[in-house]
Amino acid sequence: MRLPEILSLLRVARPPAPYGARTLARCYSIEDVARRARRRLPLGSRAYLESGAEDEYTLRRNRAAFDALEFLPLQPRDVTDVDTSTTVLGRRIPLPIALSPVGGPRMFHHEGELAVARAARHAGIPYGISTLATTAVEDVAAQTDTPLWFQLYLWGDRGKTREAIARAKAAGFSALLFSVDTTVRSKREREKRAGLELPVPDLPLATLLEGALHPGWAWHFLTSDTVSFPNTGPPDQRSLETISAMFDGSTRWEDLDWIRELWDGPILAKGVIRPEEAVRAADHGLDGVIVSNHGGRQLNHLPATIDMLPRIVDAAGDRLEILMDSGFRRGSDIAAALALGARAVLVGRAHLYGLAAAGEAGVRHCIDILAEELRMTMRLCGARNIDDLDPRLIRRTKPSTRSCPPA
Ligand SMILES: Cc1cc2nc3c(=O)[nH]c(=O)nc-3n(C[C@H](O)[C@H](O)[C@H](O)COP(=O)(O)O)c2cc1C
Repeated sequence: MRLPEILSLLRVARPPAPYGARTLARCYSIEDVARRARRRLPLGSRAYLESGAEDEYTLRRNRAAFDALEFLPLQPRDVTDVDTSTTVLGRRIPLPIALSPVGGPRMFHHEGELAVARAARHAGIPYGISTLATTAVEDVAAQTDTPLWFQLYLWGDRGKTREAIARAKAAGFSALLFSVDTTVRSKREREKRAGLELPVPDLPLATLLEGALHPGWAWHFLTSDTVSFPNTGPPDQRSLETISAMFDGSTRWEDLDWIRELWDGPILAKGVIRPEEAVRAADHGLDGVIVSNHGGRQLNHLPATIDMLPRIVDAAGDRLEILMDSGFRRGSDIAAALALGARAVLVGRAHLYGLAAAGEAGVRHCIDILAEELRMTMRLCGARNIDDLDPRLIRRTKPSTRSCPPA
């Protein structure tokens, strides 16, 4: 018998304290929140959240490329009123920010996607739900009226893909993000060194010790339902290993024609790096692309997305909505990406740190930090609205990997 079942028999009550929320007031940056998150999480979850592929060149490169940008402000300008709202996929949203789809949010906080969805609703911004989400799409949809986007991994078993799309559609999801960068799960050495296993094994000594060192996380984790992937199929296919085996190594652009028959709303390709692939996405009738290197988690030695963005905007910006993710930790990063042509950005770890540190309150806090920094950057650059952010504001310096924080 597993511990959650034992505890449910004993009817152990959950402590009422808002998990980690009190410490947020002293977190002024995403990195401050990240430090709290690292303290709260056991080694395995921390490695899963933060790791990149192999020796993590691309993970570091994402930050180095942002660090190599400088602003050339247009001054003086009347910036008493700054409007950060924009339109993404036909919907007006108050911030040019969406929350990236991620697998396994309940490994970071017991409320997982439900907490993130409530924070997205509070901010009025879109939220992407992964095929490998740890909460059913129907339950997430019940938490928010902001746009929900379903991120699709193409499984070898097309029946499963069809089923996942049908469920997202029935639950009211408004867009499909088709991941083109994950034909196989990459080699994440940091996860291996941390002994990451999913579902969490039946309490070997190492897990018990980690739990003792992180009692807040462990208490909630052990008294909540076992982490699983309810949008991917029957329970016997929910371990990380069997899920990896479900990836379809033969994914091609032509598959989009089949997906188009199943989904009549907007479809975006997630993980586009080459300008000509963005053109192909447009040729296949897609509505947009997400320029992404998966936060440095898939192919190592991919370039930073901010370096590829202008070329992709030049190639297909008049035919597609160009969104971007990977490496955003500051509102100034967001301002730079918008100035270089992104319609909006998605943030992955920058919301997960908040989730891990303090659940819904933590995610809200991270969105507030990014929004406030974006507003301030716009003011200081002389940009009154998103349209005022243009390439004249940006100067590139030589990238320096020395500015990367250590992995
Ligand atoms: C823990 C974690 C899990 C992720 N899982 C998925 C996933 O299931 N599907 C997907 O398309 N992208 C996934 N991603 C990638 C994100 O969608 C996004 O591209 C990336 O996090 C952006 O980089 P950032 O974390 O630096 O913001 C994951 C990222 C993280 C950090």
